[in-house]
Amino acid sequence: MTPAIGIHDLAVATSRHMLTHAVLADRLGTDPAKYQRGLGQDAMSIPGDDEDVVTMAAAAAAPIVERHGASRIRNVFFATETGVDESKCAGLYLHSLIGLPSQARVVEFKQACYGGTAALQLACAAVARDPSRQALVIAADIARYDLDSAAEPTQGAGAVAMLVSADPAVAVIDPVSGLFSSDIMDFWRPTYRSTAVVDGRYSVSAYLDAIEHAFDDFRRLGGADLREFERFCYHQPFTKMAFKAHRHLLEHAGLPVTDEAVDAALADTTDYNRAIGNSYTASVYMALASVLDSTSDLTGRRIALASYGSGCVAEFLSLTAVDGYREQLRSEANRAAIGNRNPLSYSEYRSLHTDRTTAHDGSRASTGDSGGMYRLSGFEEHKRIYHARQPAFSAKVGH
Ligand code: CAA
Repeated sequence: MTPAIGIHDLAVATSRHMLTHAVLADRLGTDPAKYQRGLGQDAMSIPGDDEDVVTMAAAAAAPIVERHGASRIRNVFFATETGVDESKCAGLYLHSLIGLPSQARVVEFKQACYGGTAALQLACAAVARDPSRQALVIAADIARYDLDSAAEPTQGAGAVAMLVSADPAVAVIDPVSGLFSSDIMDFWRPTYRSTAVVDGRYSVSAYLDAIEHAFDDFRRLGGADLREFERFCYHQPFTKMAFKAHRHLLEHAGLPVTDEAVDAALADTTDYNRAIGNSYTASVYMALASVLDSTSDLTGRRIALASYGSGCVAEFLSLTAVDGYREQLRSEANRAAIGNRNPLSYSEYRSLHTDRTTAHDGSRASTGDSGGMYRLSGFEEHKRIYHARQPAFSAKVGH
């Protein structure tokens, strides 16, 4: 019989800088309430010139490798739409930075904000095939839109690393999930652009539609009723979207739609994303980390996870928090990663946004030192050069 499979450990990282929506609103002459209440955002993480998805992924994954060792990790699945190379996967840069084993399959997954869920499900399948092995899944992204666009307040950055194993210590992922895919143009990023192109209003309705279909598929396959879930973690391009999505699902299921019901279902799931902003494929797992790190005890409770990636693919999953999960959490470190960011002035933010072009002569040093444990120190002959402020853990675990 296949053992229970799921999340054995989970850690969060983000960039070392952030911009508050109060500053953005002030400079754009917008009512701050539009961002804070209308979109449900207080701040957004902004990467320094020496930060990218690899440095954030390393900061999230290193403590997991330090705690569990890397000898059982057979698969490293790195999900991102902000990949650093059109050919080489971001996971290979991570491989040397944090000391991952040579006998591992390292690949990148991409499908907008959904890629992390595909990686997680394939990690579960790999562990089911050999339950003595583990898989490291990383969801990491930088959400970047054009300056002065309607989407500008929905930027952000972050990474979530998860160790997937048999008999997990944090949450079991139930085998039944619901799927929906459709070829649409609501949000995309051509390879020649560093900012996304989006049809904002359409993307909101496409998200709601896709989650509804994924939930219907979940029910058709025997998945639990909405009323059996204690919490709902939604993909959160901005946290107000989770509230829209839950209202939509309740209505669709013919259940009463009250503020109390929606607030209870989403309680503690939006705290991290309110501060980080959109982290694309990491966002739904930020919601999961946020609720697991909260004071609510969810032992034995069912948690729904609604993943959406524009373009589009959606999946509705069910997780169950296991006995003793709270002892495994990294709540203090997760909160510190978010709480210790450096607030940027508007002009600093604009210069970081503008400087991050992909075109340069192949060699340059990164501007400034963001102070993170892992840095992209620059480029030499088109090679990305990363540095760790501490040695890879492989030395400690004997690989
Ligand atoms: N006080 C309080 N609330 C206010 C306000 C004020 N002074 N002024 C406006 N609001 C409210 C509005 O009523 C609205 O709320 P509702 O949607 O509940 O009615 C909210 O603030 C936003 O206002 P607008 O709709 O006028 O905002 P906008 O048109 O300027 O932009 C957006 C909103 C379309 C989401 C835009 O930010 C955008 O394009 N973002 C990027 C796309 C995106 O995030 N899409 C989400 C679904 S796609 C997805 O999930 C994948 C992904 O990650 C990208």
